[in-house]
Amino acid sequence: MALLRVALTGCHLPSTYCRLRLLLPRQMGTTTRQSSDTISRLRESGLLKTQGLIGGKWVDSYDGKTIKVENPATGELLANVPFMGKKETEDAISSAYSTFNSWSKLSASERGKRLRKWYELLLAHKDDLALLITLEQGKPLKEALGEVAYGASFIEFFAEEAKRVYCDIIPTTQNDRRLLVIKQPVGVVGAITPWNFPLGMIARKAGPALACGCTLVVKPSEYTPLTALAAAELALQAGIPPGALNVVLGNASEIGDALLESTQVRKITFTGSTAVGKKLMAGSANTVKKVSLELGGNAPCIVFDDADIDVAVKGTLAAKFRNSGQTCVCANRILVQEGIYDKFAKAFSESVQKLQVGNGLEEGVVQGPLINETAVEKVERLVKDATSKGANIVLGGKRHSLGMTFYEPTVIGNANNEMLVCREEIFGPVASLLRFKTEEEAISIANDTNAGLAAYLFTQSIPRSWRVSEALEYGLVGINEGLISTEVAPFGGVKQSGLGREGSKYGIDEYLEIKYVCFGNI
Ligand code: SIN
Repeated sequence: MALLRVALTGCHLPSTYCRLRLLLPRQMGTTTRQSSDTISRLRESGLLKTQGLIGGKWVDSYDGKTIKVENPATGELLANVPFMGKKETEDAISSAYSTFNSWSKLSASERGKRLRKWYELLLAHKDDLALLITLEQGKPLKEALGEVAYGASFIEFFAEEAKRVYCDIIPTTQNDRRLLVIKQPVGVVGAITPWNFPLGMIARKAGPALACGCTLVVKPSEYTPLTALAAAELALQAGIPPGALNVVLGNASEIGDALLESTQVRKITFTGSTAVGKKLMAGSANTVKKVSLELGGNAPCIVFDDADIDVAVKGTLAAKFRNSGQTCVCANRILVQEGIYDKFAKAFSESVQKLQVGNGLEEGVVQGPLINETAVEKVERLVKDATSKGANIVLGGKRHSLGMTFYEPTVIGNANNEMLVCREEIFGPVASLLRFKTEEEAISIANDTNAGLAAYLFTQSIPRSWRVSEALEYGLVGINEGLISTEVAPFGGVKQSGLGREGSKYGIDEYLEIKYVCFGNI
């Protein structure tokens, strides 16, 4: 089945040479030194792994092929990692399959203890993990540290949750019978994870999967494999047995196809684009796998006339510019009621102007690069489309003078839902402001999309908070708050933003099967 060929391959970075050409000499000197010092330090700490992990063994690709991992802020080469394909994935699946029996038979509390140890190790190595994230993904170091804490929190949460997979006894329909419902791990899980949260998204899947007894084959993004490998090394050190957590890197379409075709893989969990999610869903049909999909968003952020403007500016800034706008829950459309529009646009733009752009390793930087050239080109295309349809640039609107993959934090005024910037997921530092008159109009604009992941609203009215949050066709709603993700709450979308929930007590259900057991003739 060549189902995923091309689709999963993703865009390739331009050559290191081209990207280095764009780097200013001063910047290149500093950052190259910083990065190579950091890489040496990571190598010494044993966390710089550059091979895949199959059955507890660090392995190269069978044909020796490798792929480059580059720093999106500088274009420099960080490492070469194996470019694996079908065969390596099949071996990883076999290893996960044979480990399933022993891992799932351990007591829940024993699995929980090992996960707890993994959590502790992640935190003990938080500085090194954050450095890896900044180097390969680009987000500022402080934000990377936040991601380590965020990722680790899922491991801690599910270490505890392992013991709470409760079952049911159903009141019987016949006196000589007892009816039970038990929950069992689904089996081998194929987890495909994105580059925007190289640790967080793996932890959010591996935590619940391992907690309830599943084993995994993880395929991290080709842009950010190093964080995944470091996390897997810490999992081994924590006593997660060889074969329970395998990591394959490389040819996304071959790896995806091998996972889909295998009858031993019983579940696919994916975070990424809606287009790829649909292919995975279709590809899972043949072997009828359980599927969880966390796909693209188009988050509306509605600022009503009665909002506290300081709260609204701060919350919108956080919802828009986290990870340079590269999250599925980033505010994609900022709907502002006409009475507050000018005041909000001014205050918001002033805050955006203060965002310091640069290499995430540098002090004070809060906006890093975009992941690659293709991402910058997409942002340029969306901004161009918006201005051609009548939007005005309030701030920014072009590539940053740093060159490379840096784009200026941008505010666009007078946007509307016909513009591509409001229809497509921007995944970049561009805030589009739309003007609206009434609550009904805001709800109608907000829901006019196939996506349904996150939405935000800013208002001081409690009745309006209820009305609007209930009317929004979204899986997550933030009221007077722009950062709402947490391990204790369910994360997931409606409509074409996905299926299933991650995190929270609901997250573990995605990795469990329900079995009905009937005791007769008692
Ligand atoms: C995502 O962008 O996919 C995840 C964002 C989050 O966990 O808050």
